Amino acid sequence: MRLSDCHNFHDFRRLAKRRLPGPIFNYIDGAADDETTYRRNTASFESCDLLPSVLRGVGDVDMSVVVMGQKLSMPVYCSPTALQRLFHHDGERAVAAAADRFGTMFGVSSLGTISLEEARKISTAPQVYQFYFHKDRGLNREMMARAKQAGVEVMMLTVDSITGGNRERDKRTGFAIPFRLNLAGMAQFAVKPAWAINYFTHEKFRLPQLDTHVDMGSGTMSISRYFTEMLDPAMNWDDVAEMVKIWGGHFCLKGIMTVEDAKKAIDIGCTGIVLSNHGGRQLDGSRSGFDQLAEIVAAVGDQIDVMMDGGVQRGTHVLKALSLGAKAVGVGRYYLFPLAAAGQAGVERALLQMRTEIERGMKLMGCASVSELSISNLRFR
Ligand code: FNR
Repeated sequence: MRLSDCHNFHDFRRLAKRRLPGPIFNYIDGAADDETTYRRNTASFESCDLLPSVLRGVGDVDMSVVVMGQKLSMPVYCSPTALQRLFHHDGERAVAAAADRFGTMFGVSSLGTISLEEARKISTAPQVYQFYFHKDRGLNREMMARAKQAGVEVMMLTVDSITGGNRERDKRTGFAIPFRLNLAGMAQFAVKPAWAINYFTHEKFRLPQLDTHVDMGSGTMSISRYFTEMLDPAMNWDDVAEMVKIWGGHFCLKGIMTVEDAKKAIDIGCTGIVLSNHGGRQLDGSRSGFDQLAEIVAAVGDQIDVMMDGGVQRGTHVLKALSLGAKAVGVGRYYLFPLAAAGQAGVERALLQMRTEIERGMKLMGCASVSELSISNLRFR
């Protein structure tokens, strides 16, 4: 199976599975507890059907959107994800370059494996810097200052992860950073020597955003210790309000799921929220971002940019979310499996397929621009 055989999410996932050692594949593919939320994220798009209008003379379609002041050529952006150079040696470099070519937004995680400054140099596309709230307030301020200095457009604080989710697949394989593999996990690396050769012949894996705090090489701090020891479960709205004020630009909260919290985000000056359950990786049993869209957009959609992520695998998923009022839609695994399968070429192929599907879908819906998509294009079952 080659990249040219990949025509959809499932094909990319299959190719990634062939290339990656089991523990790494399962780190991407897995989710929390029984993974019910993970499964439901994609299934929730089936709760409604698209209702096309015909004979509307749709020649060219304009799928560009403006979100948090950024113009995107398509309504899909690459959501921030951790550890990308573990999946492919180019990691975030590949994603930043692909986003640049497609003129869409991309995120760099505070657990990213290239620095936010390097990503900025690679890509002129709008850049999001995603971070978690640390007990060390100085570190939070330092990160924002670095992002500001580098010219990052949007600050994104993830609020659904004050503690790590229960990822049972990782427990079974012994996946941890630094690696602490059990025998079964080691055996799964041994059968993928090409990955290992590739990984170890490229430069050493680091977390440059947290340089002095997490040392990947000597293993002074693991990712799980990072979550339990460095993040602040006591963070509250006042803390975040202070950060929004310090940043002074577009600030987005990722992981908002209720109207009450959306209103609080507006009150403290945020310009965007992402309805998200972290790809089902945190609170299993929680609702999907898609299922919460209608309610939240109806309440606050005219005051703040509402986005969603989780389970997006098709252009038609994006059309449904936009019809419910999302300004843009984030994807995670949709670009991570292609990254693992084929680096930048994989991410570009996936983004091209998404763009093509959205364009085709808009034509078949009779919509020449994103602004023509509305709730009248949907019927719930
Ligand atoms: C994530 N996600 C994530 N989110 C975040 O705010 N910071 C992070 O470091 C990460 N890391 C991360 C790693 C991996 C392997 C995955 C799969 C996801 C969550 C991500 O931004 C997004 O919310 C989900 O991936 C969306 O769900 P889908 O598109 O993967 O179904």
